[in-house]
Amino acid sequence: MPNNDYERLPTGSKDDADEWEGIVPGNRRSISYEGFRTWFRQSSTILLVAAAFALLASIIFTVDLVYARSHDSGRILTSYNFLPYLWPVGLPNRTDNWENENSKSMHALLSCMASQNCEQNRTSIVLLSTSRFSNGIAGDTSGENIWAMSVLTALREMGYTAIFAPDNYELARTYRQYPDLVKIVILEGFRSKECFNNGRCIKTTSHPLGVPAWKLLSFHFWRGAESPLGSNWTLSPEDYARIVPDHNGVENVYLGYSIERTCKRIPIMPSSERPQQAYILAKDLKYFKSDRGFAWNNVSFVPPYPLSVMSGIRYNADTTEPDTLPHGITDLGPLNQTQFYTQLGKSRVLIGIGHPRLSPSPYDALCMGVPFINPILGWDDNDPDNRFKWESQHDALKWEDPPYVYNVRKDDEKGLWAAIKEALDHPIERFRAFLSSLLEGLTVASRYILPSMTMDALKHRVAEIVERDWKGQAEELLAERKASGKGQLFEL
Ligand SMILES: *[C@@H]1O[C@H](CO)[C@@H](O)[C@H](O)[C@H]1NC(C)=O
Ligand SMILES: *[C@@H]1O[C@H](CO)[C@@H](O)[C@H](O)[C@H]1NC(C)=O
Ligand SMILES: *[C@@H]1O[C@H](CO)[C@@H](O)[C@H](O)[C@H]1NC(C)=O
Ligand SMILES: *[C@@H]1O[C@H](CO)[C@@H](O)[C@H](O)[C@H]1NC(C)=O
Ligand SMILES: *[C@@H]1O[C@H](CO)[C@@H](O)[C@H](O)[C@H]1NC(C)=O
Repeated sequence: MPNNDYERLPTGSKDDADEWEGIVPGNRRSISYEGFRTWFRQSSTILLVAAAFALLASIIFTVDLVYARSHDSGRILTSYNFLPYLWPVGLPNRTDNWENENSKSMHALLSCMASQNCEQNRTSIVLLSTSRFSNGIAGDTSGENIWAMSVLTALREMGYTAIFAPDNYELARTYRQYPDLVKIVILEGFRSKECFNNGRCIKTTSHPLGVPAWKLLSFHFWRGAESPLGSNWTLSPEDYARIVPDHNGVENVYLGYSIERTCKRIPIMPSSERPQQAYILAKDLKYFKSDRGFAWNNVSFVPPYPLSVMSGIRYNADTTEPDTLPHGITDLGPLNQTQFYTQLGKSRVLIGIGHPRLSPSPYDALCMGVPFINPILGWDDNDPDNRFKWESQHDALKWEDPPYVYNVRKDDEKGLWAAIKEALDHPIERFRAFLSSLLEGLTVASRYILPSMTMDALKHRVAEIVERDWKGQAEELLAERKASGKGQLFEL
């Protein structure tokens, strides 16, 4: 077999298959000195030519790069135009699909990174890994969804990149694509425990692109730590340290929420135009049952003065007895969100009946200029006016006073109707400017938003939480756990 067979470049075609044998181990053919010299001479020519081409290419590339940078920072992006091929946005005009929203966010991020003009915060990613967010953009309106949506709004308004990953599988998969850009992950408490205990989710020496335990922040509506790292890694919608002061100094992190953006979209009805209507906060018939914490046992709901008392009740299979709904209440049937806001905005007062606890609806009411009757469900008989010892339907509002909130002891019929009368007589209003008051009357219905629940206040807390030194805090916690031998250890 001629030696110079080796100087032929493999064509890769099946007919020349034997040309490939030379690179298969154990099947090498020997090379004679003559053949080697020819091979060396020709190879070095090829190498030289290749080096020249490489040099030329890198010069052209550098010139192109310098030109692009100095002339048009977007040129690299547009000249290769790769964006339509990555994360295509299937439904550009929809905002209710989380994968579609992720694609939009990735486009915004990629285009600004490629042209090096990202606005502040854009390259800081917050992974939203609970369905409260993905279902929230799709229209769900539970308390948790409302909380989630306002946090999302705060993040977006501050220019952060929010990416949805509704479960732990999505979370782990998404996180490892850009771990260094992810500031924090917000997820359900039980999911943070699952991820913590799952070697395919959590970061360890053998899973270096996993999520570090210190980036996992639990999204938990109620009190009590819901994270493997404790209360300092559990976010709450209310300032429980203020609401329930018996917390021994250990309480979850107050993230909170704001109904400002959604509420202000709804026009407010002047108080003079509102019918004599009260609205009962109770979308479920079961809340009227005394064994379910009903606050007004044996109280007549037939008003002692002209007033219609409305409610929108959903009848569940276990609570169909019509007698459960007290006489005097007009049932409008189940209402959707728009209908609920319309009824609420027409009312002069919102009446709580014990449940649901800590609902966002009284905040909406106040924002629409509707005062709230907050039933006090428990108190200390020896110290009945001490609000620290009160337990009420809405403990965050027990610190508020008329004309916004009327705290009334449960089962107190006289107290209830007196408070409603006060609310009817003292609508939430502010004085108009002098000129418009001449034309349109002295006062106008006004919105009330708790100072801690304005969008600005929420943004302030969100920013602090996103930017906090979680790793440093976790280092301290880890050292503490190692020293005390208490609590699960983790890798940083
Ligand atoms: C999206 O909306 C824009 C303007 O509102 C419209 O021109 C466009 O056709 C819409 N695109 C789709 C895919 O519906
Ligand atoms: C970026 O976030 C900070 C808070 O971390 C905020 O103060 C700032 O306004 C944000 N920047 C932009 C452009 O929104
Ligand atoms: C929570 O963090 C604070 C500092 O931010 C620290 O003083 C406190 O001890 C921590 N609490 C727990 C339970 O780790
Ligand atoms: C309601 O009134 C009846 C009769 O006066 C009484 O037996 C019952 O205990 C009262 N219910 C509550 C929950 O106070
Ligand atoms: C609520 O119900 C009304 C009347 O049935 C309907 O017109 C409206 O579109 C519904 N709104 C929502 C948000 O579902």
